[in-house]
Formats: sequence, structure tokens, C-alpha cells
Amino acid sequence: MELIIDSSNIEAIRQLNELLTITGITTNPSIITKSGKDPSIVIQELTDILKPEQLLFIQVVKTDYEGILEEAKQIHALRKKNIYVKIPVTKDGLRAIKKCKELGIKTLATAIYTADQAFLAALNGAEYLAPYINRMDNYGNGIENVKDLIEMLKVHHIPSKIVGASFKNTRQVHELIKAGIHAVTVSTDVLFQMIEHPGTSIAVEEFSNDWKNTYARESLFQ
Ligand code: E4P
Repeated sequence: MELIIDSSNIEAIRQLNELLTITGITTNPSIITKSGKDPSIVIQELTDILKPEQLLFIQVVKTDYEGILEEAKQIHALRKKNIYVKIPVTKDGLRAIKKCKELGIKTLATAIYTADQAFLAALNGAEYLAPYINRMDNYGNGIENVKDLIEMLKVHHIPSKIVGASFKNTRQVHELIKAGIHAVTVSTDVLFQMIEHPGTSIAVEEFSNDWKNTYARESLFQ
């Protein structure tokens, strides 16, 4: 199971990349705008933070087939390896995903709202499929749709990986990890919520207090 960070917040990414086993970073145009920085600076910072084996996912901004393809080639050229082009599953997007497969450009099909959209993108050769869980919930049941998709890929032996996206709480992430999803991309806020628990902090404080009160020191051996 791959754990990916969905953010352009460099400090939070740096911290989480040290704490956890992170496969890569996803962004989209809205995520990059939230940084308040020039996009080329954000992309450079993200590239610098990652080890060569970690994956970087950058989304196209253009929406027409030719424009998507042009940006896909530019994104592909950003790194020697482990660079993925995020392309929304519109008609032009699906056509571009198919062409990228022919050209050897790796893609993540994004802005997915149904299992069927994801399945079609998988047939076109998208390496990753990103269903927008929380947004899907506005139209039905995101979790159940993704469970269907897991099954659809399995029975047809399709190698594309599902990367759950647009999580707004830890329960959504938990449910899909339990269902066997291949990857999740999670915001830094939700990731910190997955790590921290008041019970753990209280337990650690109790251990320290018991130790200090009994041995009048803070460390194990001296
Ligand atoms: C990641 O690949 C997606 O672009 C992202 O998770 C979408 O999240 P949002 O629904 O919060 O915009």
C-alpha cells in the first residue's frame, strides 16, 4: 500500500517525509495556488524534497487535447524518472491519457467521480486512478464506488493502481485501506490526525512521570 502526501506545503511535507514512509507527492492546480508562490518555485521545491525513488505527480492546467499533451510532455521532462502527469478524465483528458501511454509518459487519471470513468481511464493505460472520495459522497457513496472499482480491476486483471484522493477525514482513509486500496493520497492535516491521539500523549506523560518520581531522573540508564 502506497502512502502519498496531497499537498504543496513544503514544511509539512518535509516533516511528514521524515516521520512516515512516503511514496510520493500529489498536487493539483488548486493545491499549488494555496502555496501563494510561483508554480515553478513550488515544483522545484517539491522536486528537491523528494528522493529519486519517490514519485511526483503534477497536474496539467490546459483542458484541450493538444494543450494537455503539450503540458504532459513538459511535466514528463521535469525529472529523469518517477514523474507522473495528472490528467482529469474529460473526453480530451481520456484521449490524452491514451496518447501519453503510446509516448511512454506515465499518467494519473484524476477528478474521477465514478468507477466507470476510472475503468475507462485504466483501459487507456493510466498507471494511477484517483477517485475523489469526499466529492463522490456528494453524489452517492464514495467508499462503495471505490470498493466496486477495486473488484472491477481485479476481475479483469488490469494493473492500474487506485489512489484514493480528496479525503476529508481519517475514517474515509481507514475504510479504503481496509478494503485493499493500492494507494491513498492524503492532505497533511488528515495525516497528522491519523498520527496524533490524546490517549497516546497522556500515556507518554504518565510513563515519564512514573519514571521521574521513582528514580529521580529522565533517562533509562543514567
Ligand atoms: C489529488 O490527487 C486530488 O487532486 C485531491 O485529493 C483533490 O482534493 P480536494 O477534493 O480536496 O480538492
